[in-house]
Order: sequence, then C-alpha cells, then structure tokens
Amino acid sequence: MNKQELLPRMGFPNLGLGVGLRSQHYDYLLQHDPEADWFEIITENYMDNYGFGRHVLEHIRNQRPVVMHGVSMSIGSTDPINRNYLKKLQELADFVEPVWISDHLCWTGVAHTNTHDLLPLPLTEESLKHVADRVLQVQDILKRPLILENPSTYLEFTHSTISEWDFLSELTRLTDCGLLLDVNNVFVSATNHGFDPEIYIRNIPHHRVVQMHLAGPTDCGFYLVDTHDNPVPQRVWELYKLAQELTDGVSTLLEWDANIPDFPELIQELHRAKDVMRGEIPATPLFQSRHEAVSNPVSHQLIQKYE
Ligand SMILES: [Fe+2]
Repeated sequence: MNKQELLPRMGFPNLGLGVGLRSQHYDYLLQHDPEADWFEIITENYMDNYGFGRHVLEHIRNQRPVVMHGVSMSIGSTDPINRNYLKKLQELADFVEPVWISDHLCWTGVAHTNTHDLLPLPLTEESLKHVADRVLQVQDILKRPLILENPSTYLEFTHSTISEWDFLSELTRLTDCGLLLDVNNVFVSATNHGFDPEIYIRNIPHHRVVQMHLAGPTDCGFYLVDTHDNPVPQRVWELYKLAQELTDGVSTLLEWDANIPDFPELIQELHRAKDVMRGEIPATPLFQSRHEAVSNPVSHQLIQKYE
C-alpha cells in the first residue's frame, strides 16, 4: 500500500472512555446498558469463536464502537509474517468492523511457537528496519494502519542503541502506523529500568497516538509487574493527565484482567479519568505484592540488562 493512502486514516475519532470486553461481564452486559463509551476486545479470544462470546460481541458492537487488540501478531519475530493469523484477523475484522486494530511492539515467539508472552526487542537500527518492514507488510495485507502498543518490559539488551520512545517515533515515521500509549506500561518500564517516564511521554510523536491504556500494576519489591488486577495508582493518573494534554485527548481504555470487579465498579474506576482531567488526581497507592519481596540477585540482573 502506498504510504500516502494511510495518512487520511490516522484521523481516528476520540471514542471517549472504554473498557475491555471480558466474559465475567457477559451476563451483566446482556441485561444492562453498556455504560462505557466503547469496548476493546482481545482479538484472539474471538477468533474461531462462534459460541456465546461471539453472541455477546455482536450484542455490544451493535451498541458501541469496538476496537480489536491482539497479542499474537508477533511483529518483532524473525519468523515470516503469519498469514494464516492475519487471515483469521481479517475475518474477525469483517464481522466486528473495528474502529482500529492494534497489537504490541514485541515478539511472542519464534519457530512457529507462541510463548503467549509479549517479549521485548533489542532496540537497534537493525531491529527498527526489521519491524518497519513487517509493519508495512501487515498494513498492505490488512489495508489499514496498524496501531502498536508500547510493552511493559523487565529486561533490556546491552546492545540496544535507541530509546524506546525514539524507536517508536521512527517506526511511525517509516510506516505511518499509529501508537497505543499504555501509560501504565511506561510507568512499569521506567521504574524497572530507571528512566524518567515523563521524558518518554514528552518525546513520542503525539499526533500518532490513537489510544491510551490505563491499568494498575503490582509493586513486587524492586520491580513492578504489569498485572492489570487493581486500581490505577496516583503516579499513572498523573502521567495519563500529562499524556492527554500533550495529545489533545485520545480514546482511553481501562485494562483489568485479573480480580476483575463487577461492571459498575469497573465503570466507576474508568470515570476517575474525568476527575483527573479536572485536576483531581486520586491518591491511590501503588498496589504492593502480597508475597514476600523477591530478592533473587539473578532475577535482579535479568531485569537490568540482557545480552
Ligand atoms: Fe496495555
């Protein structure tokens, strides 16, 4: 696809405040107004799924905008692009008619094995060209821009030469892809690797940010884990406010994937985003792991640098 064809399509709408569609809420959503402005689905949960989940998805998409968020595109892998996966993705997109399709800046496997983990990439000129080539291939096949999310990471590579924010900036320039800025992931990675999250947020191309994620991580002692299982802490709200101001406001989605609260409680947490934009930042503390702090020195080294 000619890059110019993609440019007008980067003007995605601000959908407002949304939540993920999760099976725990299916019964509630079939009986109540959805309340959220829009929904995000985990793409893989609805591929080859023609049962109750597909029925609820159809119910929701008839009422609210839906976007598709994938975890298996493996855009950074050295395997060839998985065309079978993209075929299934396109089939689901034909049904959902999503406002956009996103995945992560990561690799999830190699040699046709899916680790079901969002693994970090070495950030080098070589990997940038590799990922850019693959993004262009995917956009050619899907005939739409790809929106890529910054991952939360627990290690860095000693041979990385580019900051993640510069890597993403250059990737958007080379491919015209969009960005899903996960503010919580910035906070997690910044804490784990010791960089300033505000520098990250100030240095990404704001006109390329299509969506933001919010979530609550877990403090495990000397590192944070992106657990999505508790309320959004104060620092993430502060970073979210900064990011919303710098981008002039984009679609926001609250991720909550374990210990999922009832839907009304989820919506209550989501709507705190409105308070935040008025300057009323919730003083929610960072959730502390209930387990003893891990102090394994080997793990500690892994989180710093990996060759
Ligand atoms: Fe996210």
